[in-house]
Amino acid sequence: MTRVLSGVQPSGDVHLGNYLGALRIWVSDQKEADAFYCIVDLHALTKENDPAELSRRTLDMAAVLLAVGLDPDVCTIFVQSHVAEHTGLAWLLECTATMGELNRMTQFKDKGRDDESVRVGLFAYPVLMAADILLYDTDRVPVGDDQRQHLELARDLAIRFNGRYGETFTVPEAAIPKVGARVMDLQNPTSKMSKSVLSPQGTVLLLDDPATIDRKIRRAVTDTETEVRYDPGTKPGVSNLLEILGAATGRSPEDCAAGYSAYGPLKSDTAQAVIEMVAPIQERYRELIADRNTLGQVLIEGAAKARAVATTTFERASQAIGLLPPPWEGRLREGREKFR
Ligand code: AMP
Ligand code: TRP
Repeated sequence: MTRVLSGVQPSGDVHLGNYLGALRIWVSDQKEADAFYCIVDLHALTKENDPAELSRRTLDMAAVLLAVGLDPDVCTIFVQSHVAEHTGLAWLLECTATMGELNRMTQFKDKGRDDESVRVGLFAYPVLMAADILLYDTDRVPVGDDQRQHLELARDLAIRFNGRYGETFTVPEAAIPKVGARVMDLQNPTSKMSKSVLSPQGTVLLLDDPATIDRKIRRAVTDTETEVRYDPGTKPGVSNLLEILGAATGRSPEDCAAGYSAYGPLKSDTAQAVIEMVAPIQERYRELIADRNTLGQVLIEGAAKARAVATTTFERASQAIGLLPPPWEGRLREGREKFR
């Protein structure tokens, strides 16, 4: 069975880009593949961190994942820091990656390569992500378009490690959706929708109430023409709306365009489609967030399932690279062999 793994940073502020570019694909993948979904709390430490907020947001994200439709009986939902092998393997991969290739990561360039106070963790971020992926013998990684370069690094590191130390890792493929892979900011449609923009008006949150969603979409920046046409290069605002409408209703943006001759109706239909799409998610979220015990139980079971896979891969990688197997417990016999 195909193994799928993906990750999301812990935040209650999941937006439409996260959902259309990644989470909705996770939901459809869970039935077809052996899927692992990771809340990457360690990645959140690469920037300003409020300890109380982080743990709250991590649990919030677990509720969001269940609310969008992930079923813990079918897939594995877990928190990255609950499986120690992620940081262990990240070190082995940091000793495989080069400064040059990490310096070329566009997200690092954008977020502060020239800032002396930027954290080492932000620089090493893509290596930890590669560890997340390679630990689970992952075949396919469903992500939005912004993660393409990080995925390429994970593949390069797997190939390099395998070449140096013998076949150890599965080389993963990125799976980027045709529609919704790059949802743009409604106020600034040449930048991707993101949690960390200055104006919240351009970002539709999954948990925004219907009136807010309606207002944000109706105020979306378009252009001075009147023709509804899918053409991201010259009509980024209108094309973004068509992309959102298409992803929300399972059609291509071009098909959606054919039904409109003015921007007003396009905006109101897009708002309506998004409101209908998120309504059941919001309802489930409100029930789940009140039930901390269930969330905790899901994460305990998820960590156990994840650990079972991660420890095996980590041991394989450790031994391939020449680390001495620990001479205790189950490893006693194997350890003694090495000391002989
Ligand atoms: P993050 O919130 O950065 O952890 O991202 C979680 C997932 O959402 C990743 O797979 C991203 O590629 C995806 N994603 C983030 N922003 C967007 C966007 N604007 N459009 C489409 N996908 C996105
Ligand atoms: N870097 C990803 C993002 O910001 C999150 C992530 C961390 C991830 N580890 C991963 C995604 C492993 C896919 C697989 O969106």
